[in-house]
This record gives sequence, structure tokens and C-alpha cells, in this order.
Amino acid sequence: MAGAARAALSIVGRPAIIDHVTTIVLPVDPQLPDPTAIARAAAVLRAGGLVVFPTETVYGLGANALDVEAVAGIYRAKGRPATNPLIVHVGTIADAQRLATTWPAAAEKLAERFWPGPLTIVLPKTSLVPETTTAGGATVALRMPSHPVARALLAASGVPLAAPSANTSTGISSTTAQHVLKTLNDRVDMVLDGGACPGGLESTVLDLSGEHPRLLRPGLIGVAELEAVLGTPIRVAAEINERQPAPSPGMMPRHYAPTVPLECVEGDATARVAEHVAKGLRVGWIVRQSRKSPQAAVVVALRNDVAGYSAALYSALHELESAAIDRIVVEMPPDESQWLAVRDRLRRASCPP
Ligand code: TXA
Ligand code: MG
Repeated sequence: MAGAARAALSIVGRPAIIDHVTTIVLPVDPQLPDPTAIARAAAVLRAGGLVVFPTETVYGLGANALDVEAVAGIYRAKGRPATNPLIVHVGTIADAQRLATTWPAAAEKLAERFWPGPLTIVLPKTSLVPETTTAGGATVALRMPSHPVARALLAASGVPLAAPSANTSTGISSTTAQHVLKTLNDRVDMVLDGGACPGGLESTVLDLSGEHPRLLRPGLIGVAELEAVLGTPIRVAAEINERQPAPSPGMMPRHYAPTVPLECVEGDATARVAEHVAKGLRVGWIVRQSRKSPQAAVVVALRNDVAGYSAALYSALHELESAAIDRIVVEMPPDESQWLAVRDRLRRASCPP
């Protein structure tokens, strides 16, 4: 795969081991990506290589979802457990239908309303989808992204793209190419740098393979929005509200975690921060802007609306991870349904290794 990709890029030398490729970074306009850059990236993907690309949620680490060797490269590059299945990105509804054995009315309604966009639908897979992609499971997670770079890449490559978030396993997802390169430089063939991802949090994952729709991962599209379209209630996997392993195999308790320990505090964290400071710890404190600026080594104030907070959260975590601090304290947004995805990510980020 990386070897094939190198050949496709006419880089001299013997096909290499994936773990030591030289990553090519190509800047692209996020709205109108240069077709030449997209064609280069598509050639790498068709040859079995790994290409990181921006989506409307976070950056994805892409490979041809139907190529077992290419997909194995994703797991290697991320250090991802083989038990955690990948989301398959498609360019059209027809492409999604080819990969699923059924296309229920619920999928039709949701795709019509939310695709392209940050919704992932889980359905029984057809034999076209290799088990490596679904981690041995009988279902496949399907998503049609709306970001112009992702769409152009899907169209040019002509194959569905397996793409987990572009970060090493359990780490913070990437919303810029700089975040990607912190951990994946020289582990992927190419990065398409389309600037910051507008959404900032991952897609909502909804399981439609069973009798009732079930939320496996809260995301940018809220449960109420989905229910309004479906006209039926959605069950929320219990593990989303408790720290249990695996409603979907990849929902580990610890995930999205910075290398600096992170602590979630409900309500005012002033006293907690003061305790840390008294012990000589340098504290990074994440608050919402409505609040008066507190005293701490580093204070990051995120916007007080869900979209603004989500868009900036991972960037803030990356920034604090790189700052010389000992502890991140987050004042949690309220326990309300609109903040479900943000609170889910923060709780997982706070789990000890
Ligand atoms: O926004 C997103 O969804 C981003 C961008 C790049 O599209 N992708 C992403 O992928 O977040 P990843 O691999 O980091 O998260 C995929 C989640 C995991 O929790 C995984 O376990 C779950 O989706 N998943 C994938 N396939 C599944 C399946 N067949 N059944 C249940 N859960 C599945
Ligand atoms: Mg991820």
C-alpha cells in the first residue's frame, strides 16, 4: 500500500514499510480544491495508500475501504485496535446502498435530510465490504461527508473511503493539518491541508441495523433533530451516559484524550483550580465565555453556544497539550441534551489511561 502509493507518486526507491513513508502535505482551497491536487491524492488512494483529508467534522485518515491491505494500513498508522470498526465514506446514496444489504425507510429519510453531512448510519454490510473494515462485524457504518475536499476526493478516487479521525488511537481528534502532523507525520502518504474543519466534533453514529434506531455516538447532529425526522424516539446506548466500554466497539471509555491529565468539573471550578495551584501545579482552565476570566496558568475561553464550543474544543485541547502545564480543568457545559456530544467527549477525555 504505501509502497504502491510511492510508485504512483513516482518516488524513487523500493516500496517501503508503511511506518516510515515520507508524508507529502498539499495545501488545498477548502471551498474549491485544485483538481490537480485532488487527482494526485486520488491516485494515492487507488494505489492503496493513505491520504488524510478534511471533512466538515474532523480530519479523516482515508484509504480505499474495499482494499484489505490499504485498510490494514489505517489500523497500523493509528495504532488502532483491530476490534474497532471504521466509518466508510461515500459520495452518493447509491454508493451507500451498494454496501448495505438493506436500505430501510429510516435510512432513506435521514439520508435525504442530513446527507451530505455529519450523520453516520450503521446497517448490515454486503460482501463487498471486507471484514477488516468492519473489524469482523456484520454491519457497516456509512457516511456521506459534505466538505468540498472530501466530496471531490470521493468523486475522483471512485472508491468508498474508510476514514477514522486522523489521530493516533485514543488521542485528540484533529481539526487542522498541524494537529494531524503532530502524531501522523511519516505514517501516512499524503495530507490534504484544507484549513480548519468547521464542525470540530465527529459525526453522530446511529445504528439502524436492529429493530429500533439506537444512538451509538452523539455528534454534531442532535438526537432531537433525528427524532423529528424519524417520527420515533431514538434509544441512547447506556454507555454514552455511563463510562462503560463499547456500545459500538470503538466507544472506549478513554478516547479523545490529551497527554496532560484532564479533569471535568460540574459548575464553578475555581476552588478545584486553586487546590491544584496551591500544590504548585500549572493549570490550563477551559471555561465558557459567559464566565468572568479566572486566574490560572492558561485560560481558554470557548464560545457559549454549542456550535462555537464544538468547533474550537479539540484545538483548545491540542493547544493545552502542547503548553507546559500539568493539569487541564474543564468547567462542564450544563447537562442538557444540546451539550450531549460535547460532554461525552470531555468525559472520555478525562478517563485515566
Ligand atoms: O466525523 C466522523 O465520523 C469522522 C470523520 C473523519 O468522518 N470519523 C470518525 O471515525 O470519527 P472514528 O473511526 O474515529 O470513529 C468511528 C466510530 C467509532 O466509535 C466506531 O466504533 C464506530 O464509529 N463504528 C464504526 N463502524 C461501526 C459499526 N459497524 N458498528 C458500530 N459502530 C461502528
Ligand atoms: Mg476517532
